Amino acid sequence: MTSKPYVIAIDGPAASGKSSTAHWVAERLGVRHADSGALYRAVTAARLRDGGEMDASKWIEADVLASADRRVRFVAGGKAFVAEIDGRPDEEALRSADVTSRVSPVAGMQRVRVWVNERMREAAATGSIVVDGRDMGTAVFPHADVKIFLVADPWERARRRVTQLLQRAPTDDEIAAETDRLVHRDARDARQTQQAPDAVLLDTTYLTQDEQVDRIVALAMAISTRAPKAD
Ligand code: CDP
Repeated sequence: MTSKPYVIAIDGPAASGKSSTAHWVAERLGVRHADSGALYRAVTAARLRDGGEMDASKWIEADVLASADRRVRFVAGGKAFVAEIDGRPDEEALRSADVTSRVSPVAGMQRVRVWVNERMREAAATGSIVVDGRDMGTAVFPHADVKIFLVADPWERARRRVTQLLQRAPTDDEIAAETDRLVHRDARDARQTQQAPDAVLLDTTYLTQDEQVDRIVALAMAISTRAPKAD
């Protein structure tokens, strides 16, 4: 890639493999990764820690923002930005069912989106970066150097997600239940899941993790050797 700082934006629906792909692309290119979904999850976990109302559809935007400001920091680590809650990483809380089932309404709050987008732009201001989420190539980094939109068949996305959670081959019933959850989350997230007109669509249903990483790295290399965009 060029010596000028660059942004690679990877978007796509739930469990399309954005975060793990973004992690490996960043690793291969030797730059940091920033996962916007982890920030939405951290904000949700922070609001849960403040207790009270458990129904996220009844949460008040100002309270959610207050919890985020007080508890969540996006901290630059060696290889990635980490969404810390109360001063420490808490991957278990971020990936918990309690957070997963409440994150969509939180991500639907406009001021929360502004808050997350500010953290993402601050992260990108520190140097070249791979970012992933739903709207990185549209709302947050419209001038990103490389934009990818990852999709995969819902059954395959569900199969990968439960295999990761259970650490074994799932049964068809387990995959079916997860497919149902994913399809519902896709519907709730539809408004913010946007493919940029200049994004490359990559269907990963029949690709391995390594193959999809190879394709994105190759694309990044190809684009970096072209004449720079006039912007
Ligand atoms: O589990 P999955 O990889 O699908 O989701 P995630 O990337 O961890 O994001 C969790 C949730 O945050 C999503 O279901 C969306 O509601 C929200 N999100 C968003 O609205 N915009 C983003 N740029 C990233 C995540």
